[in-house]
Amino acid sequence: MKQLINIKVPNMLESFVDVVREIYGDGFVPLHRPIFSEHEKNSVAKVIESNFVSSAGMEIEVFEREMAEYTGASYAIATVNGTAALHVSLTLAGVSAGTEVITQAVSFVATANAISYCQGKPVFIDVERDTIGMSPEALAAFLQANVEMRHGQAFNKASGAPISACVPMHSFGHPVRIDEIADICAAFNIALVEDCAESLGSHIGGTHTGRAGKFATFSFNGNKIITTGGGGMIITDDEELAQRAKHLTTTSKQPHAYEYFHDEVGFNYRMPNLNAAMGLAQIEKLDNFLSQKRIVAESYRDFFASLPMEFVWEREGTRANFWLNCVLCEDLAARNTFLEYTNEAGIMTRPLWQMLNRLPMYENCETDALTHSNFLAERLVNIPSSVPKI
Ligand SMILES: Cc1ncc(COP(=O)(O)O)c(C=O)c1O
Repeated sequence: MKQLINIKVPNMLESFVDVVREIYGDGFVPLHRPIFSEHEKNSVAKVIESNFVSSAGMEIEVFEREMAEYTGASYAIATVNGTAALHVSLTLAGVSAGTEVITQAVSFVATANAISYCQGKPVFIDVERDTIGMSPEALAAFLQANVEMRHGQAFNKASGAPISACVPMHSFGHPVRIDEIADICAAFNIALVEDCAESLGSHIGGTHTGRAGKFATFSFNGNKIITTGGGGMIITDDEELAQRAKHLTTTSKQPHAYEYFHDEVGFNYRMPNLNAAMGLAQIEKLDNFLSQKRIVAESYRDFFASLPMEFVWEREGTRANFWLNCVLCEDLAARNTFLEYTNEAGIMTRPLWQMLNRLPMYENCETDALTHSNFLAERLVNIPSSVPKI
């Protein structure tokens, strides 16, 4: 591993700004902006003309089929956003009041919020230094030290609560070691739900992320690799769970020619057809976006190779989507210098999310030592990563 030293050379910051400007041009450079063409406008206009702008319409079904095909899943269910997709997936995976869910401390707040919507309690464990995602070693160590099996179900010895699920997240599009995580979850009979909000297009070997657990969920928020404005998707291979997910996300209405009969408390979580139309136009461009983003990531890798900062490259055997590129500074002071300099220069850069266990609503949740999470929280900076204008 390269020795990381402080940013003492002002030239390095200037050169970084030059590199970003070479890729993205003059003016304010955002972290990640969407790319649209006439195609999105025409697709959305067509849906407006059809009047099917809301929760009914062919575009939703076609978008679901295309997402299933792209990821290799048997079923895909479109939702209003990625948080809703996680909420419903966790509900169906068995997360309920009084249960605990193991997730990573380094994630966007939605991961923990979705657990809370089910009235489950998150347990935050460490991430790996290289993938920035859930550490299989940390998961195994936590479960071995803290869990006892009762009638085939894992219980937290200290709290007495059953552990209902485990939610790893592929941070910034870098695939976690999901096969190891899946084996550990299987050994403890814990349902696995992958938060793939950031990893559309990221693969482990030839397999798309999101294929190891009961469910995986995606986000099409405006800052994601493809966008529907707002939107999400659940994928699963289980036909019954797919039907349950569709039912729950569509107010649990029983199909009927004209009667309204809802057989349980469902959610109005269906993706509107307008958004699906935009998604269909965007997914056509996904492979092209992925190649362009890889070129950007390679430029950054080459730039940082000769400098005392570490660019986060993909783990061997995986293909990251490079949704948001990451660099590691030597320490907190160096990180702050980098953030201040770049933001003042009109280049949007951002630190890692505040760790979830440090947010007021989650500060009483159980954690492990979070060694790598704390290391990364002080050093990681996201740098501009959009697809350059084609
Ligand atoms: C890791 C993670 N999980 C969940 C979400 C929630 O997705 P959405 O914003 O579509 O609700 C996001 C992104 O927004 C995310 O980055």
